[in-house]
Amino acid sequence: MIICVIGSGGREHAICKSIQKSSKVKKIFCLPGNAGTQELAENVDLNIDDHDELIKFLKKSKVDLVIVGPEKPLVNGITNVLENNNIKVFGPRKVPSQLEGSKTFTKEICKKYNIPTAKFGVFETIDETLNFLKKSNFPIVIKADGLAAGKGVYISKNFQESKDAVKEIFGGKFGSAKKILVEEFLTGEEMSFFIISDGKNFKVFQTAQDHKRVGEGDLGKNTGGMGSYSPSGLINKNLESKIINKIITPTLKAINDLGEKYKGFLYAGLMISNNEPFLIEYNVRMGDPECQTILPLLETDLVDIFMACCDEKLEKFEIKWSEKKSLCIVLCSKGYPDTFQKNVKIDNLNNLAFSKNDFIFHAGTKKVKNEIFSNGGRVLNFVTTSSSFKNSRERIINLINQLNWKNGFFRKDIGFKIIDK
Ligand code: AMP
Ligand code: GLY
Repeated sequence: MIICVIGSGGREHAICKSIQKSSKVKKIFCLPGNAGTQELAENVDLNIDDHDELIKFLKKSKVDLVIVGPEKPLVNGITNVLENNNIKVFGPRKVPSQLEGSKTFTKEICKKYNIPTAKFGVFETIDETLNFLKKSNFPIVIKADGLAAGKGVYISKNFQESKDAVKEIFGGKFGSAKKILVEEFLTGEEMSFFIISDGKNFKVFQTAQDHKRVGEGDLGKNTGGMGSYSPSGLINKNLESKIINKIITPTLKAINDLGEKYKGFLYAGLMISNNEPFLIEYNVRMGDPECQTILPLLETDLVDIFMACCDEKLEKFEIKWSEKKSLCIVLCSKGYPDTFQKNVKIDNLNNLAFSKNDFIFHAGTKKVKNEIFSNGGRVLNFVTTSSSFKNSRERIINLINQLNWKNGFFRKDIGFKIIDK
């Protein structure tokens, strides 16, 4: 098979690595990819928003299956376009992708189908929002509707902070926001819960926890993710049944009731409070860096899973997982998530002593004349699987120290809730 992976992060490198193991795969293209995918795939720098150009490329290259990594093309309807051109694609269509593309779409579904989530209100003007906030209890959560790449969420401790947030959102900081969501602040511990769905049936696709804050102890600014571990320490059979029955199944029914099917990964960001799940948000893709920790645990051929999904044959399909503990630490450019230097050379990558349970996935890197340079804030993802999260973390820290990249920094406390408790 010839497979095309869309995206350029650590998640897409991990997907390329897993599908490359399949005996069915003859060639992989990655659009646009990074220095890591370049080792496994042919990187192609093509404007995927130019649908005519994309279709022409996929047909000419005889691509059998397209796997879409990030949310943006999904929300923009790439799946519909590919399906209309008879190209097999893994990832939800435009309407179901609204689960990530519009927070109000998801909240309305929660209301209609009685899905546990934070109480909320939707507002369309500054005055309306501020009048509501004057009467509210704090902390409170303020969100811009629409895609904001993990940003656009404020947790305000008092009225003044919430006022500033409302002004920033309606002022266009995250694109033209027509609606604002105000939510009750949930307490508990967060967990990422993944399923893969073929439109008729679904399978659980592991759990994980990530660390979004830049600083140790989960302090400081929000980032795209500083590390993660899988499985989550919170999961148990009873909680899993509640998540499936109260959250996942009604959501998939809601999508069916709209005359659509949900095909692809669905990622539920949950708050777990006394073993009860509450939906914080949906993402219509794998998490990043959760994907990098989850795929090394997968023992089933990922291409077979994608094909079973595209062909609606997931019901009888068994997905096998290793019992190991997987942990990922993200090596970032100094200064991230604020300003940081790009194009800093990374020496030494080929000298690291990797074992078969160690993985390195590239995120913000590029290759120039056989040398690797940083090309973003989150640069490299180090993943190790072992019998304990503690061992995995120690092993990774050792590898990052071996690399000794002078422009890098990382959190040494990834997994602290489960390792150091
Ligand atoms: P979101 O983009 O909706 O996932 O929000 C980003 C982060 O904000 C989440 O991962 C949570 O840490 C936090 N958050 C969002 N909504 C709430 C809420 N209602 N209560 C508490 N924390 C929240
Ligand atoms: N790890 C958070 C995300 O992928 O959105």
